[in-house]
Amino acid sequence: MEKSSASKKEISSREVVMADHDRLKTEIAGLSISNPVILASGVMGTTPGGLSRVASAGAGGVTSKSLGLDPRSGHPSPNVVEVAGGYLNAMGLPNPGVEEYVQELRGNDIEATLFGSVYGQSPEEFRRAAKLLAPEVDGIELNLSCPHAEKLGSAIGTDPRLVENIVHSIAREIDKPLFAKLTPNVADIRKIGKAAEAGGADGIVAINTLKGMAIDVTTMRPILGNKSGGLSGPAIHPVAVKSVYDLYERLSIPVIGAGGVETGEDLIELILAGASAVQIGTAVATKGMSVFKELNSFLFDYLNSRELSLSDLVGKAHEC
Ligand code: SIN
Repeated sequence: MEKSSASKKEISSREVVMADHDRLKTEIAGLSISNPVILASGVMGTTPGGLSRVASAGAGGVTSKSLGLDPRSGHPSPNVVEVAGGYLNAMGLPNPGVEEYVQELRGNDIEATLFGSVYGQSPEEFRRAAKLLAPEVDGIELNLSCPHAEKLGSAIGTDPRLVENIVHSIAREIDKPLFAKLTPNVADIRKIGKAAEAGGADGIVAINTLKGMAIDVTTMRPILGNKSGGLSGPAIHPVAVKSVYDLYERLSIPVIGAGGVETGEDLIELILAGASAVQIGTAVATKGMSVFKELNSFLFDYLNSRELSLSDLVGKAHEC
């Protein structure tokens, strides 16, 4: 008798645990994600083994390093410099090439929703890289926004016509959700978002880094090997909030927020602005991989104490 009531208790506490997990579950562009905290491209994603570790640390999704058709060694060092409010990086898209990465992915079990990021110099290069990667991942992210790689990234992502063409050429050829990662280095990010949506994107990721530079006053020379780079970290968080807010207002497709999220409050702010999920990059480097559990647990308590679901929160700041 006693034994059976004890097991009833166990069952009901298991149900609570399941319900807890359910509270953080989300769906973006048809992808079901266990929680809305996603690893951004560029951190821990150069090998699938790194992505696996981040997935085990509690990320709901993980994004590969941006991959191109050919291996690329990147820019000369120094590649990263700490500045007020964050970091400047000019990695220069180093990667083993999409075919090599696909081989490596086949031997890895990644327990999170997997986004594969690709870049190219032309719609054709983007299309070929995305087609090679799509069968191995859950979603494709187009890097239309690296601010310091000549003829790649934001050189392309600031032209709405080119963005629409690239997205269009891929959307009709792959059967996985397609996300366009946008640059904030434009006069009006909504125009670029609209172009991606018109091309057939299933979602937007906003934002990538802001153009920046640091100069050494002793040597009187730029510090980064590439001279200029992309600013990430808390300094760009308000830019991310405004970009997500504007995109949410203008577009029908979901937005994944990114930019300077370090704390639970930063995460919630982007969701209130309109993000259905949030990418974490620099904070993985500054706080370590425990950041995924920390952010999820803050979000869970925030929702629980207000008896809200995650979907209640998305874009709530627009209600005023
Ligand atoms: C890099 O590899 O240079 C960073 C990628 C990016 O900013 O998109």
